[in-house]
Amino acid sequence: MSKNILEHIAIIMDGNGRWALKRGLPRTAGHKKGAEKVLEIAKAAKEMGIKYMTIYAFSTENWKRSKEEVDTLMNLLREYLSNDFQKLLDEGIRIRFIGERYMLSDDIVQKMEKLENLSASNTTATLQVALSYGSRAEIVSMVKNIALKIKDGDMSIKEIDEKTISDMLYTKDIPDPDILIRTSGEQRLSNFLLWQMAYTEFFFTDTYWPDFTKEELKQIVERYNGRERRYGKN
Ligand code: FPP
Repeated sequence: MSKNILEHIAIIMDGNGRWALKRGLPRTAGHKKGAEKVLEIAKAAKEMGIKYMTIYAFSTENWKRSKEEVDTLMNLLREYLSNDFQKLLDEGIRIRFIGERYMLSDDIVQKMEKLENLSASNTTATLQVALSYGSRAEIVSMVKNIALKIKDGDMSIKEIDEKTISDMLYTKDIPDPDILIRTSGEQRLSNFLLWQMAYTEFFFTDTYWPDFTKEELKQIVERYNGRERRYGKN
């Protein structure tokens, strides 16, 4: 039995819309509450000594939602990137973003790059934000990069192994997630970190993301510590 060293938690923050609907509020009110929750849970994870947290903030699929909802999410993001995320820097948290940046507005990409640069030397913990992210798109671009390298004579087919592939994904240098949490009762991966979650332990909770608490996070970590992991991670 291997000891469950916990370094990385990935979260699919689902249920914002239903949280709002239950209260007779617009879906966007749920996203606002959900965004506030990100700060609370990122701080709590850091205090629990968890080095890496990856959150699914916006998927490539989410671009298909109504213009009104996409616009609200983007505006919320602008606000968070300019103000609230600064609080994470003060906590010593490093911020990085994974996803298809070319699909995002220039001003948003600039704010993302600024936060990444400002927090680059923070070492206490890392918050990885998946924005305009889709795992299949990530894999397609990795395959194209490998093909290009081979075509240009910079890599040989023999050199392709699991490490080469991991090193050519957005998540390079970050250990694979130990835990995946998906809130709101749904039990799907939704194109999130497919390669990286080969050995991840999954935890599903009925709680809607805006209602998720650090106490629930602690309970999940305790359950994880009680599980036997049959396969080690890389
Ligand atoms: C799922 O709820 C959640 C999302 C599509 C986006 C998650 C975004 C946030 C928590 C806020 C933005 C984040 C940052 C970092 C500022 P849903 O709309 O699918 O809920 P439903 O399934 O109940 O409809």
